[in-house]
Amino acid sequence: MRLDKYVRVALQTSRNDARQVIKNKTIKVNGKIITKNDYFLNDNDSVTYNDKPLIYKKFIYLMMNKPQGYICAKEDKIHKVVIDLIDDYNHNDLIIVGRLDIDTEGLLLLTNDGILCHMLTSPKKDCPKEYYVQTDIEFTDEDILVFKEGVEIYETVDKPYKCKSASLEIDKNDKHNAKITITEGKYHQVKKMCKSVGKTVTYLKRLKVNRLSLDEKLKPGEYKELTEEEIELLK
Ligand code: URA
Repeated sequence: MRLDKYVRVALQTSRNDARQVIKNKTIKVNGKIITKNDYFLNDNDSVTYNDKPLIYKKFIYLMMNKPQGYICAKEDKIHKVVIDLIDDYNHNDLIIVGRLDIDTEGLLLLTNDGILCHMLTSPKKDCPKEYYVQTDIEFTDEDILVFKEGVEIYETVDKPYKCKSASLEIDKNDKHNAKITITEGKYHQVKKMCKSVGKTVTYLKRLKVNRLSLDEKLKPGEYKELTEEEIELLK
């Protein structure tokens, strides 16, 4: 592989920036400074950047604890956007996996792996997503059955939609609180499902996507790279 491609991918940066990094004499191959963009790397070559190992990683997987007040977009004229919370990675390449509302917190994934993104978001894949909700009115046992049967919501005022079966696990100590697992991702789906059983959501947080749980060590606005084991939990 050419050195400029290796540096671009490893640093998650643009081609021009990668070439600048090489020009600045910060890249060494097997201990020697290399300034040629088309220098050809062999499999066993060791590459360093500012004397630290530079590892080639094709795919990046980030988990963010999305804070309230941010929208899931790369740019917006009015609101703050989640991508601006990400340093160190090339924003152009990252895909925001699914959407959380501006006032929703919790597990948000960002990746440059389009296939995994499709697996997690395609309606045909039925990927489970678990949310923690707080509502103004207590949930009842009947709500559990309604959710299981498939709640009717409205995609638009004149377009009813019967949701797929969802699980509702009511907190025994406080029935305003529950965990809801859905396998779809309709606009405002959890809020609309709760509305349809007469409750208004006052707080919403995504806890889990597929088998991967939010790392509770992440404060709202923080993010981290997923480990190999965590990536497996998404598949
Ligand atoms: N359902 C909602 O209503 N809002 C979200 O942010 C996610 C799921």
